[in-house]
Amino acid sequence: QKEGYRFFMEKEIYEQADVLADTLRGRVLDTGIEFDELDENLFDGISEIKLCACGTSYHAALTSSYLFERLAKIKSSVEIASEFRYKEPLLTKDTLFLAISQSGETADTLEALKMAKQAGLKTLSICNVDNSSIVRLSDASILTRAGIEKGVASTKAFATQVAVLWMLSLYVAQFKKSLDTKELQNELHTLREVPNVTVIKDAIHEKTKRLAKRYLHGHGFFFIGRDVFYPLALEGALKLKEISYLHAEGYPAGEMKHGPIALADPELFTIALLSENLLFEKTKSNMEELGARDSTICCVSSYMYDKADDFIVLPKCNHYMLEFYEMMTATQLLAMEIAIKLENDVDMPRNLAKSVTVE
Ligand code: M6R
Repeated sequence: QKEGYRFFMEKEIYEQADVLADTLRGRVLDTGIEFDELDENLFDGISEIKLCACGTSYHAALTSSYLFERLAKIKSSVEIASEFRYKEPLLTKDTLFLAISQSGETADTLEALKMAKQAGLKTLSICNVDNSSIVRLSDASILTRAGIEKGVASTKAFATQVAVLWMLSLYVAQFKKSLDTKELQNELHTLREVPNVTVIKDAIHEKTKRLAKRYLHGHGFFFIGRDVFYPLALEGALKLKEISYLHAEGYPAGEMKHGPIALADPELFTIALLSENLLFEKTKSNMEELGARDSTICCVSSYMYDKADDFIVLPKCNHYMLEFYEMMTATQLLAMEIAIKLENDVDMPRNLAKSVTVE
């Protein structure tokens, strides 16, 4: 049932606009965000949100920590579940524990959730599979409505997790009255635009195919970005390494000078996520520093940076989260096209399983 697509991953990348529309349906209203599944007292007495997840779900969590603090003015911290379990964390009851998992069965996330419950914390989960272990164990849960995801490399689940987390940050913002009506309306309007900007454009897909021919020879890849584009850089690098088996690392763009730039040479490909709406000059100058040290730069942006070696040119938009979704699809396609050129099994990469139910 690949419906003409070469791999399930490709089908799932193309499905993202539709599943995002499903995820928003009935939740983004004219006046604000509504989650029928949440008790309105859930955030009473809560002053911090602790997010916990693994892999791609961790990257969605990390993305949302910027949104929770920026939009809802609520403290948020993010934990990798396998670390959280053994670090003897200090937990206080004014913290909401938020587990994120596509499958709802990931062993480390499930055990972390059990620990939070034992410590008496309120728990919430964001999952894609109803009635999964994590859903059953949490006090409340929100489903992502991505549909069944078959590709081991997560795509549409990530897209919907970020959407739910963004909606949740607005839900908390309403509760805490941290946004004025105009700001909230602007966020709601932008959210409604997300499915449109996530529709795959032929020109961008074709461009990633052309780039893939050369990039499959890369010795190493940096994905760089700032703010929400940093977790997206981590996610872009994870996608590439999972299915192409090429070495790729995601970095905050501002970290380059603290060590990684030592690796720069023409065989190091830098995928720079350059937002025009957020920290443009800062990210551009980080990209220039890498270019000056001869790294091959691929600029993923709506801005035509003429000194880059390659471009994936995105449509212009006026909100950084719309750029986020445009860049997300571009980096997913690039990873997939490189893996296809390498003749790898994109849906079932070596050494990986869809759901990690053991520690
Ligand atoms: O089902 P989960 O979201 O809990 O899974 C977590 C990770 O195992 C998962 O995201 C993994 O990193 C994917 N293969 C990423 O593409």
